[in-house]
Parts: sequence; C-alpha cells; structure tokens
Amino acid sequence: MCGIIGKAGVGNVTPELLEGLGKLEYRGYDSAGIAVLRNGRPERVRAVGKIANLRDALDKTPLEACVGVGHTRWATHGAPSEANAHPHNSPDGKFTLVHNGIIENADALKRTVLADDKEWESETDTEVVAHLLQKFYTGDVVKALAETQKHLKGSYALGILCADYPDTIFAAALGSPLIAASVEDGSCIASDVGAIGGTLSEVYKIENREICMLTRDEIRFYTPDGEPCEKATVTVVPDALSMDKGGYEHYMLYEIMQQSSAVRKTLEPLLAGDFDLGFDDAFVRDGLKEIRVVACGSAYHTGLAAQLLFERFCRVPCRAEIASEFRYADPVVDEGTLTVFVSQSGETADTLAALRLAKERGAKVLSIVNVRGSAIASESDAVVYTNAGREIAVATTKAYSAQLAVFYALAVRFAAARGTIDEARRAELTHELAALPDKIQEAIDRAEAPARKLAETMAATQDIFFIGRRLDFAASMEASLKMKEISYINSQAYAAGELKHGTISLVEQGTPVVSIAMDGGMSDKTHSNMSEVRARGALTVAVTGDKNADAFADADVLLTMPDTDEWFTCSLAVIPMQLLSYYTAKNRGCDIDKPKNLAKSVTVE
Ligand code: F6R
Repeated sequence: MCGIIGKAGVGNVTPELLEGLGKLEYRGYDSAGIAVLRNGRPERVRAVGKIANLRDALDKTPLEACVGVGHTRWATHGAPSEANAHPHNSPDGKFTLVHNGIIENADALKRTVLADDKEWESETDTEVVAHLLQKFYTGDVVKALAETQKHLKGSYALGILCADYPDTIFAAALGSPLIAASVEDGSCIASDVGAIGGTLSEVYKIENREICMLTRDEIRFYTPDGEPCEKATVTVVPDALSMDKGGYEHYMLYEIMQQSSAVRKTLEPLLAGDFDLGFDDAFVRDGLKEIRVVACGSAYHTGLAAQLLFERFCRVPCRAEIASEFRYADPVVDEGTLTVFVSQSGETADTLAALRLAKERGAKVLSIVNVRGSAIASESDAVVYTNAGREIAVATTKAYSAQLAVFYALAVRFAAARGTIDEARRAELTHELAALPDKIQEAIDRAEAPARKLAETMAATQDIFFIGRRLDFAASMEASLKMKEISYINSQAYAAGELKHGTISLVEQGTPVVSIAMDGGMSDKTHSNMSEVRARGALTVAVTGDKNADAFADADVLLTMPDTDEWFTCSLAVIPMQLLSYYTAKNRGCDIDKPKNLAKSVTVE
C-alpha cells in the first residue's frame, strides 16, 4: 500500500509534501518520511506512526529545499520502525527513494545481482532498488533506472532523488498508481491526484515501466528502455478530498450519518434508467449464464447479498468470490459470464488482478466503484459509480451502503429483463427503493441511542457472535467485520442454522449473540436459533423490522428498524451494527478512523 508524493518546485516544498502525505495517510500509517535535496545533498527525516509524528520530528529538524519526496507506509517487509521507514538511501548516499508496492524478488536479488552488497540499512524490499540504482549508475539516472527495472518483479511506484541532479525527481511505475502533473509553481508526482493541492485536471499516468523526469519547469518521459518518448495527459475529475469531519469526532461517525445521502445520490441516476452496463437487456435475458461478484472485505459482503438477489429473484446462478481466491482459482468464466468487481477505492490489488483475469478469459467486466478514474474503473468494460463521496475512515460504511444500492437497482433491472418479476412488482420494488434513503435515515435516528447504550456492555466483552439467515447472514458478515476491525473484539458471523454444528460450544454465560432477523421469511427460524443460544446463557440482541418486533420481544436487547421489502433488508440491518461497532470501539479507546494494522487502500496482495 503506502502513499508517495514528490515535488520539484520554487520555494520550500516540505510543507506541501507534509500536507500531501496527510491526504495519503489513508494508504497506510505505520511510518512516514520526507527527503529533500539541499545543495545536492540528501537530507531526510522519518518517524514511526502517523504523519503527526513526522510533523513533530520536522519541527525539531526542519528540512528546507525546493525538491523533495515523501512517503507514508503500510509495512509489508520489516516492522514499522524508523530504520524501515522510507525514504531509503543507496549505500553511497547518491540515491534516495520512496516506494509504493512490493518488490517480490527482493530476497532473490540480494542473493544474486546484489550478492556483494553487505550493507543493508533496513529489512525492506525497497532498499534493493536503491542498491540496484547505485550498481547501474554511470552518470545517467534514466539509463540506471531502465536497467534496474529489468531486474524488478512485483509492483512499484517510485519517486527518486539523485544527488547529481539537485533540481530533479525521477519516477517510474509498474502496477501501482502514480501520476505526474505540472502545477503553478513546479512539477509533482503522487500516488493519488487528491494529494496534490490546487485544482488539477490534466495529469500524466505513469504506467508499464515508463520513466519520468521532473524539474520545476518540465516533465519528460522515457520508454522502459530509457529512450525519450511523448506522453499525453489524461483529464481527471479529482474527488474532492475534503478533510472535513462535519462536526463529528470521527470520520466514521460522519460517514455513517452520510449514508442516506450517499444511497440517494447513488440511486438517483439508476432509478432514472441511467445505466451504462456495456450490454443490453437482450443479453441479460438470453446471453447471461452466470454472474460472479468478485471483491474483498466489506465489498465482498455486498456480493454475498447480491448473490441471493440474483439467484433467488432473477433466477441466474451467482457466486460471490473473494478476489484473492478467484485470481488463483483458475475460474471457468466466458462470454456468458458477467463478472462484477466491487471496490470503494478502485485500487485493491487482488480485485484488480481478478478483473484482468476475467477480462483475459472473455467474461463481461462490470465494476461498481466509488473513486472515479481509479484503476478498476478504467479497466472495466463498464462502471457504475457509487456516489458516496470520498470515504476517509478505514472501516467502510457509506460506500458499502451505496454498493448494496447499486446491486438492488441491478437486480430489479435484471429480474424485469428475465421476466422473473412482472411490471407491478417492478413498480413496487422501484417505489420501495426510492424510499430506501429515508428509511436509512430513520434507521440511523432510531439506532443511535440504543446502540450507544448497548456499546457500554459490549466494550467489556471478549467475543461476539452475529447470526442470521439469507440476506441477514450477509448483513451479519458485515456487522462482524465492522466490530472486529475497529474494536479489536474477536467477533464471528455465522449462518444462524450453522452455529449448532460446532461454534455454539463457544457460547458461555453472558456471551453476546446478535441475531439479525430483518428477513420476514426467515425470522421464525432465526428466533429458534436465538432461543438455543439463550438457553445456554448468551446475552441475546435482536435486530428486526417493526413487523417482527413482537416475536423478538424476549431478546435481552431489541433493536427495531423500519420495515422494507425483503430484497433491501440488508441496508437497514447494518445501520445499528455500524453504530454499535463505532460506540464499542470508542468506549474501548480505539483509534476508530485508523485501526491498527489496516489501511484504506490495499494495493498489495
Ligand atoms: C472494511 C473495509 C475493507 C474493504 C476492502 C476492499 O471496513 O473497508 O474490508 O471493503 O479492503 O476495499 P475496496 O472496496 O477499496 O476494494
């Protein structure tokens, strides 16, 4: 993961680099560092932990120069220590560089091409790049970089300073996002356009081992072999990377509160029929043999819901797949398969690799993405954007809800095209879908106080279980992930009927078991499972719709949500669960927006 930034400018670039790193912190926050070239000498300051620590370190040791690079790290090789923090130097001090990605053959290079190198400052894979540059450098950095790239396997976005070129940044990339852009007072590189100040619209995307050389006045490109080449800019519509918390203590709470609007903005164009799917209803009716929804984490959980929608209601086989498994599973997909890739960031390495595989095998590739212009969006046959606005808290909430909404709209459309619902039912579902944003708001309003109260009990627990059936199981999976990732409580989700096949042995006096029972067709069954854990001393919490509230009156804690059509229940079930996780984590004093060991954008496999 990691984020990199660099600027060749006019005045002191350190404040801008620091600000840009703040905007890239969603990519990792294990350590951060900045290096500049002052009078042709590299100087660097690094700090373990968040950018705030780097800021403090820079207060003590200021860096002032008009050329520099910066890095925020999510550790892959080597602990989050200062020695492993970027920028890294070559042994002779000539090269200083920042890297996002993974050099997969770093160990092999140390044993072969770099076998004579004995001085290693860090445990990182990155340092081999600095050593290779030193090895191949004979006065021409572009040539050294071209030669270095021939040896690198894996993925990288690199920002490089060379002491012999005091006003220049060199950059190269393979499989990791990197843009270069001219700004009013210089030239910049960054992992994300949003990290560069101002209102950029034209940028260069550095890809496929291309080499880029930037000074404050110009940006030049070279082929992977080091020959000069022309490159065109692309137009970007940068997502506003507002750092506003809307008056809330955490981004996560702010984003939970924004869900009604995120879902409304996502549904509006879809309800108006504004879909560009890259195929028509005739394909959905006659050509579509199977759907695979491929994603990671919470995005995969939306696939669990989609799987039921497409199979039960549209009568088309559908499987939700974890992207990191799909990409190595040798999947059987062809032109009759619709593969749907779901991603908030649009950058997740496994999802992107899975997409490329599906494309290679001739499947139709549709993606559901939040960040415009991201790699997953750019490489898909068609994209449906979730209009959730930029999500900053690491734990997703509003993007997840918006992804679900896209699946609802798709399912209604597919069911109509395949004739599994009639016009009256379609109108009914469309009407209910249009009402969903208001119901989400009502769910938030209703759940806030009871979730906060329940969180007082949850904060002291060791384990939590979430159970549900069908769409309620999909919601349980998301509820459980939310809880464990931000509160660090061990939580597990189970299909309610599965608990007694082993896991129930973990239920003890007072163990919280949350039964999600929004699906009216399944609520009796889930109620029985709730009774089974209650008989074994569990603290029972039930989440259900108004219509079923009486049936669950025997739960120790009952959270009732507005009713909706059974197709859409997942969206309302997760709301109290997100709030419960949030307040539980808060009571436990956790770092809610930046949970330990995580990053918002997972650009390594
Ligand atoms: C959990 C969470 C992650 C992401 C996952 C995929 O709260 O946010 O599980 O859902 O890392 O990320 P994207 O959607 O960016 O592909």
